[in-house]
Amino acid sequence: MTETQPELPLFPPSAEFAASANATAAMYDEADADRLAFWATQANRLSWNTPFTEVLDWSGAPFAKWFGGGKLNVAFNCVDRHVLAGHGDRVAIHWEGEPVGDARSLTYAELKDEVCRAANVLTDLGVTAGDRVAIYMPMVPEAVVAMLACARVGALHSVVFAGYSSTALRARIEDAEAKMVITTDGQFRRGAAVPLKTGVDEALEGLDPDANTVEHVLVVRRTGMDTPMTAGRDLWWDEAMSTVSNEHTPQAFDSEHPLFLLYTSGTTGKPKGVVHSSAGFLTQAAYTHYYVFDLKPETDVYWCTADIGWVTGHTYIVYGPLANGATQVLYEGTPASPDEHRHFQVIDKYGVTIYYTAPTVIRTFMRWGRELVREHDLSSLRLLGSVGEPINPEAWRWYRHVMGQDNTPIVDTWWQTETGAAMIAPLPGVTHCKPGSAMRALPGISAKIVDDDGNELAPSPDFGEHTTGYLVLDKPWPAMLRGIWGDPDRFVETYWSRFAEQGWYFAGDGARYGSDGEIWVLGRIDDVMNVSGHRISTAEVESALVGHAGVAEAAVVGATDATTGQAICAFVILKEHAKELGRDDMVHELRAEVAREISPIAKPREIHVVPELPKTRSGKIMRRLLRDVAEGRPLGDTSALLDASVFEAIRAAK
Ligand code: WTA
Repeated sequence: MTETQPELPLFPPSAEFAASANATAAMYDEADADRLAFWATQANRLSWNTPFTEVLDWSGAPFAKWFGGGKLNVAFNCVDRHVLAGHGDRVAIHWEGEPVGDARSLTYAELKDEVCRAANVLTDLGVTAGDRVAIYMPMVPEAVVAMLACARVGALHSVVFAGYSSTALRARIEDAEAKMVITTDGQFRRGAAVPLKTGVDEALEGLDPDANTVEHVLVVRRTGMDTPMTAGRDLWWDEAMSTVSNEHTPQAFDSEHPLFLLYTSGTTGKPKGVVHSSAGFLTQAAYTHYYVFDLKPETDVYWCTADIGWVTGHTYIVYGPLANGATQVLYEGTPASPDEHRHFQVIDKYGVTIYYTAPTVIRTFMRWGRELVREHDLSSLRLLGSVGEPINPEAWRWYRHVMGQDNTPIVDTWWQTETGAAMIAPLPGVTHCKPGSAMRALPGISAKIVDDDGNELAPSPDFGEHTTGYLVLDKPWPAMLRGIWGDPDRFVETYWSRFAEQGWYFAGDGARYGSDGEIWVLGRIDDVMNVSGHRISTAEVESALVGHAGVAEAAVVGATDATTGQAICAFVILKEHAKELGRDDMVHELRAEVAREISPIAKPREIHVVPELPKTRSGKIMRRLLRDVAEGRPLGDTSALLDASVFEAIRAAK
């Protein structure tokens, strides 16, 4: 790539917004002058049972300890303290179900009662601090209550996206040795009630009895559908909740007490259980939510459209907003149910002021057209956010022009499951933005773009290949992951070995500096794909494909897609006997197999049956070349290939 990008106009904040913004330019200087003092100030926005005595202990790097000596309770910080401060009547959650008209609002006082009851239920069922609880639920208020109840009793939740298959759920239950699963009878998907709890049954039935650590399954009634219950193991949530008190005294936990596990895709087929801490995670979640979204808790109505199954749902639906006493919308369904108007109707109905979504959603809106959007009153919106993948400048401008009335700030937030909270983003009211750039590291955070040897790159106005480098985080941050569940070596190897000498965290993303030194994140440079903002590893999809009896070999790559960012393209070699089944039937079956093994979100857009795969002399599949084929580009350097003629065969098969 040598294409040059013309200098883009800057989007400065409006004077009006800047005048009342939470953030100030001085925050960068304060943090630069004394980074640890800056983080101590942010941590002190929380309520502590025992104050911390040491901000950071990095002596065991890369295993960090933040806010040592301190003790707090995360759920108390997210709920009780707002009630104690007199805000019990403030709405915490405006819940909007997928079926139109199905809605419910919970105040902070009501949320506190629910969380206390649920904490009592967990305790009665034998869940104690340090235990793991799997949560497999759609976007209902009980999911938030369940997460906070775990936090309250010190149990680690492991939320598994309800779109994952029972096979994927089973692997996560097994790895975490979960003691309990919390789920719903079913969920609404595009107008239909579909079962969910049966997925939990399948996951548990498939476990080796010795490996089955699950003692109880708690089931929230969402759809009212007939649901088989296993006596002694399964309990209805509403029945359990009705017999316990709404009083619960939270226990204070050490700052470093693990708060949750969240499985995410890495470069191997086995998902990693990313471990997050209590105080460091909550500090950065609350800090970034307050400043990056300019939250005014008394007046704003905030809406993050992520699912609680992903990290964005953890940090920017549950912990950040609730720690800040925000009022937010929680929506159960997809943007197109029952039709394309839904998000805009929800914005209008609740007077949403802050809207945070993914570029893939914005590009979908663009496809639907601005006329549709303009049928709705979106004048309540005053800040828009983006996350999950690079936002292309065209989508950025559309977002601002069509949804932001040409004046709202847009915060493009770069971060990862592993970073726990936003790392690179504009400060609204301060930053002059360039569409498509996440701009610079937030106050207190340090990021660099470096070459192979760790030398920092120079700012550059063009997109030349020589100006692309590795995005690294060169200083520890409070919400950083504390490890991979049960696998400390993998933690060190995955994130800290590429620049081990310098002691930097390598994020897996490629990036470049723009002409003003701002950061442009270009996307993953490892074998992780990003499909509609969902992280999926090539190895996971490959192993699902070769798990099928008819497949001899498979190679998967992510190819650019105009709507989803990347799309999954698979190349498979069939076994002799499988060739008898027609090619279309086989492709159909393989896509179903991936949905069964992982999730419908991981179904390849294309599956090409090919006679051979391009390999190096050492037998490694050259994915780079397959990406060229998938995107219809001329092949790059093929000198490492064992047999260059393989491409004629692949092209002929495509
Ligand atoms: C990508 C989601 C560009 C990136 C919070 C990262 C982004 C991966 C952005 C993490 C952004 C996320 N601009 N790329 N604003 N935000 N990414 O763990 O490749 O699901 O490494 O966390 O998403 O995905 P994850």
